[in-house]
Amino acid sequence: MDNHLDHADETEFKTLTDRREELEDVGQNCSTNPTMGDIIHRRFSRRAFIGGSLAVSAISTTVSPLAILTADEARAETLSAFDFKEVEVGIDQTHHVAEGYDADILLRWGDKVFADSPEFDPLKQTPATQAKQFGYNNDYIGFIPLEGNPDHGLLVVNHEYTNAEIMFPNFASVVKEKVMKDGKPVLKDGKEVEEEKVVLGEYTRELVDIEMAAHGGTVIEIRKVDGKWQPVLDGKYNRRITLDTEMQISGPAAGHERMKTPSDPTGTKVFGTVNNCAGGVTAWGTYVMAEENINGYFGGEMAENHPEHAQMKRMGIPGGQYEWSKFHDRFDVSKEPNEANRFGWIVEVDVMDPTSVPKKRTALGRCKHEGAESVVNKDGRVVFYCGDDERFDYVYKFVTAGKFNPNDRSANIDLLDEGTLYVAKFDEDGTLEWLPLVHGQGPLTTEKGFASQADLLINTRFAADALGATKMDRPEDVQPNVKTGKVYVMLTNNTKRKADQIDAVNPRPENAFGHIVEISETDGDFTSTKSKWDILLKCGDPSLAEVGASFSTATTKNGWFGMPDNCAIDAEGRLWVSTDGNNEKDTGRTDGIWAIDTEGDARGTSKLFFRVPVGAEMCGPSFNPTGDTFFLAVQHPGDAGLATFENPATRWPDFKDDMPVRPAVVAVTKQGGGRIG
Ligand code: FEO
Ligand code: CA
Ligand code: CA
Repeated sequence: MDNHLDHADETEFKTLTDRREELEDVGQNCSTNPTMGDIIHRRFSRRAFIGGSLAVSAISTTVSPLAILTADEARAETLSAFDFKEVEVGIDQTHHVAEGYDADILLRWGDKVFADSPEFDPLKQTPATQAKQFGYNNDYIGFIPLEGNPDHGLLVVNHEYTNAEIMFPNFASVVKEKVMKDGKPVLKDGKEVEEEKVVLGEYTRELVDIEMAAHGGTVIEIRKVDGKWQPVLDGKYNRRITLDTEMQISGPAAGHERMKTPSDPTGTKVFGTVNNCAGGVTAWGTYVMAEENINGYFGGEMAENHPEHAQMKRMGIPGGQYEWSKFHDRFDVSKEPNEANRFGWIVEVDVMDPTSVPKKRTALGRCKHEGAESVVNKDGRVVFYCGDDERFDYVYKFVTAGKFNPNDRSANIDLLDEGTLYVAKFDEDGTLEWLPLVHGQGPLTTEKGFASQADLLINTRFAADALGATKMDRPEDVQPNVKTGKVYVMLTNNTKRKADQIDAVNPRPENAFGHIVEISETDGDFTSTKSKWDILLKCGDPSLAEVGASFSTATTKNGWFGMPDNCAIDAEGRLWVSTDGNNEKDTGRTDGIWAIDTEGDARGTSKLFFRVPVGAEMCGPSFNPTGDTFFLAVQHPGDAGLATFENPATRWPDFKDDMPVRPAVVAVTKQGGGRIG
């Protein structure tokens, strides 16, 4: 979900999503961890001068822009490790993929997940129909092969959130309202300025329950038949995960007093999961869902002297973007304050048993988890990487205590309940310390307010504050690359970072376009606690010197992007990045997938492979094991301008007047077969 830009100018037009996002980014990091404001990115000034945007603007005084463009395209072709012909940037109603590739719609919101699912009827949605159909806003996608077959397996898909304004008929409307600033109407030429905006209608319990059924995840069998992927509707593993799905709380915080509620006095049983953004698939073939912006689902008020108030405020709870608390007491913090402690975790689903109870793995901490990608370390322990997506929040990793057993799946099934959670401290000299969040160590003691490991994990952000972790520019997906021992951290943007708050690893104030950090774990040991880091890319338009982007000069006008969000590593160890937040105003392009060279002379060269329809965000990049299929998630398409169910910005992917715009999963294959890219 893109809680990305601050629209400081209130007279500017805002979509409902923009306004939702402003409310969303309300967690507060009030710790006094140093921002190293006095260190003015010494480390990167030299590289930026040699290879970055300054080089482009320096030659542009003597060479025509067209000549540069032609030269760039030629250099990108010869230098890059990717052989596809780049897509042209732009904004229109449909998707575009590189020439020679097919992008086929595999699953849309409302599609059948089971043989007996009802047909999608957008005018007759009910909670029961939605619970048997593909959910809304597909984000993370994972592919788990069945019997090792790269052409047959389980697709696991997160359904992060819902857009009521374009989901529900006769619900949203466009109204004119006075534009206010500091409590007063904004005037232009002596007249009050008005703006049109989309407002939602009155929620009913039925609508809330449809939203709840549209959240969660889908597990669905898929198979390639004659070169085309198809869902297998009678697949025995198919399941929908919704807010009604029973889950177990496991690991150190299970059963803790702060996890108990009136409906669950054991503190071990909770229903459902929300705002599952990115995620992961483990080496033992389980599906990992990451609970991100949980705050928005909780309403009500919590007294300032309530013992949970401070940590809830740090998480932005209650956020109140949804109206679930009106109909379900557990989402009202004044009625069931501990329910919010049961969200914000990493959830593991055993997909080989559709009746299995998913487990919320508390050992991995509680925050706004973007994702949880993992790697089996050379000693057999498994390492998970997680970003906490908030401005000025942190990057984490979790190292299991036990080792992965490749010969006995059941031996791995509770590996995630024991291990060590670390938070990253990026030092100015290019080294990185992973600091353990272990009760009793350093400042994490009872005297300092952390009563036990369980207590500490529920307050993960406070524990990381106490350790002096580095405040980052919104950590999104964090992806280990087993081929190189490197780890890529997507930092999507942070326009609130002031000039005196920059540091070596977050070197730009008002960072509107984000950057990508590369961690080199020492000797390729992913459990290492002292590592090195570098900046792979500073994003944004490299032709504007003031943006300070650092793409290689072989990158064309189509190749640069802003707001990196999710990413994937292909079978050859190459990096692919999806974005969230590109638009007409900020970058003149939609979101999409860019392929990025990380090694050799081409390092920092980026090429556009796929772009989404207007209003959409690009999510879920995931390859099948042979790398001949690239699964992509198109999230909230049509959510631009004054979009409503009746009047969306596009009717992708069906383009029928009686069908709403629908988020969908796309399967990309090469015509005639072969590896992507
Ligand atoms: Fe759901 Fe941080 O993106
Ligand atoms: Ca994301
Ligand atoms: Ca990823």
